[in-house]
Amino acid sequence: MYLGVDYYPEHWEGHMLEQDLERIRNMGANIIRIGEFAWHLMESSEGSYDFSFFDNVIQRAKEYDLKVMFGTPTATFPAWLAKKHQSVLSKDEYGYIRVFGGRRQYCYNSDIYREYSKKIVEKLVEHYQNEKNIVAWQIDNEFGHEGSDLCYCELCHRKFQQFLSEKYRDVDELNKVYGTIFWGQTYNKFEEIPLPQPTITTHNPALRLDWARFRSHSINTYAKMQIDLVKACKGEHQEVTHNFSGGFFDKAYDLNVVAEDLDFVSYDNYPVWGGLSEPLKPEHIAMTHDYMRGLKNKNYWIVEELMGAQGHNVIGYLPRPNQAKMWAYQAMAHGCENLLFFRWRGMTRGAEQFCLGIIDQNNETGRKHEEVKSYIEDVKKHETILKSVIKSDIAVLYDYDNNWSWHIQQQSAEFNFTQELVRLYAPFYRLNANIDVVSIEKDFSRYRVIIVPVMQVIDEELGRRFEAFARNGGTIIFSFRAGIKDRDNNLHFEKVYPCHIRTITGIKILESEALQRGQQVQVAGVGEYEGKEGKCTVWRDLITPEKAQVLYRYDDKFYRENACITLNHYGAGNVYYVGAGVDGQILQDIARVIADDLGIRTIDSPEGLEIMIREAGQEEWCIINNHSEDEIMFNGIKMAAYGSKILKRSELITTTL
Ligand code: GLA
Ligand code: ZN
Repeated sequence: MYLGVDYYPEHWEGHMLEQDLERIRNMGANIIRIGEFAWHLMESSEGSYDFSFFDNVIQRAKEYDLKVMFGTPTATFPAWLAKKHQSVLSKDEYGYIRVFGGRRQYCYNSDIYREYSKKIVEKLVEHYQNEKNIVAWQIDNEFGHEGSDLCYCELCHRKFQQFLSEKYRDVDELNKVYGTIFWGQTYNKFEEIPLPQPTITTHNPALRLDWARFRSHSINTYAKMQIDLVKACKGEHQEVTHNFSGGFFDKAYDLNVVAEDLDFVSYDNYPVWGGLSEPLKPEHIAMTHDYMRGLKNKNYWIVEELMGAQGHNVIGYLPRPNQAKMWAYQAMAHGCENLLFFRWRGMTRGAEQFCLGIIDQNNETGRKHEEVKSYIEDVKKHETILKSVIKSDIAVLYDYDNNWSWHIQQQSAEFNFTQELVRLYAPFYRLNANIDVVSIEKDFSRYRVIIVPVMQVIDEELGRRFEAFARNGGTIIFSFRAGIKDRDNNLHFEKVYPCHIRTITGIKILESEALQRGQQVQVAGVGEYEGKEGKCTVWRDLITPEKAQVLYRYDDKFYRENACITLNHYGAGNVYYVGAGVDGQILQDIARVIADDLGIRTIDSPEGLEIMIREAGQEEWCIINNHSEDEIMFNGIKMAAYGSKILKRSELITTTL
């Protein structure tokens, strides 16, 4: 198990190296990540490569028993390169050049940039291919992050038109699929097709979806070029990874494609960042971990675990004592096997003066250092448990075409794609059930429950997969707007909603309503849910049940005859349709019924107390994390505020878990 820190020795005077490495080692670390932004240090002018600085660092690290993950430095290219080839700089949607001075401002499609990237990466990796102390290569840094997924330069424009000409047989087919007859936008040739840059009103939804696909393709082809090169140059003992950022549903970038080519996935876990007054909710953080595990259906690394408050120009929330440490335990609970904290010491100069690390600018060890030290000391005793495989009966399914379709047209000003996934993930998370979060590209037939949040893009093929899953005994939970669009981002024609799943849901939907800020609608339980009530926000589908039973209906003047939540017994399975943005408690009750009916392992725990069960050897272990600021007594165990414990299930006084 690797436990360590992100370390930037180039930020500090040479004499700091020894004391840093010694203190990093004494803290219990056994790995450091270096190099990811140091291109100029390795190529200070074109063609003059010099790795002597890092040769020394790696040599000294070896003497402190510190292994190395080395980052290829292509996220931050040298000023001389920007000066010589301005074309490598990306452009924003207004056509403005993203000038040198930040990071990641290169164009993924720039052939010139790809050539320079290849040269530095080839020289670097070949230089260290026999370096036994380097165990892994990190490719670049957070592809697509901080707005770098989009570039509107002339080259990207031409490549986008080429991308479309390869996708569509001819421009007539594109016109037909896009419906360009609308607003007289018919193209005579691909060269007439614009970038979806700012215009009056809005662009064609089908074009915008193809644009998102093209952006993802641009990043993924750049990434693959670099991954293939590293694999060709590296030593057999060295693995290849990339550190994905959070906010992965907000980018024109499908991470699954790059993940295919990696030996393992790495993730940068920042439950809170600049400007935020409080962290993401525990269920949201947990879902991001389950998503990362789902990329390759295997455990992953975290190469940047937040320890200090973060922010570039505006700093975010200060993690409370042991809260950041608890987040690191939570990561391990959800399948992180190796973890590095960001970062050894915050840099006193440059853009990240306020991205604080373990050691602050006083260069003294303090609270954060002690938290990391005790964390390392504890988790390394539990390596076998933390490397065990997580098996889930439940999966949340997502699809990037669908995600992008929602980002293109929100339909309700209150709609947030990630929050709609969290809405349906949370009820099962609160039961402490294991949950996978995977793309619909993966085979989901092995699960017992699939949760399908706001899957508005459903084509015939996906409809058939859902039908087979239900017929064979699976439980499906759809939420609102399911099946309204085809894979071209156009509304289905001459089909009653929800298209391709109408039979298995046993309902039809003829009208719906977008609910804006402050709008909410009462809902009332029916049948076994009689007497229960709640509300919905964001959206509501006015459901007419055909074969399905009604669990909740709307409780307002005109639509009290319409169902809000339904259940249809189809084949050997059950198909729920949650037609609105309903309260958490309503979904919690339904999740409880489903889990009990199917005998899915759950654990009742107080609000804020997260428990993951891991099997290791013949034992079941509980990884317990208290996300609340209050002490919680649980099964005879005292959980301090933001406390974490790893203990045998049998150590709990009752086995009613
Ligand atoms: C990201 C980047 C790091 C650093 C941190 C600051 O995760 O990968 O280089 O900028 O954010 O929080
Ligand atoms: Zn570009």
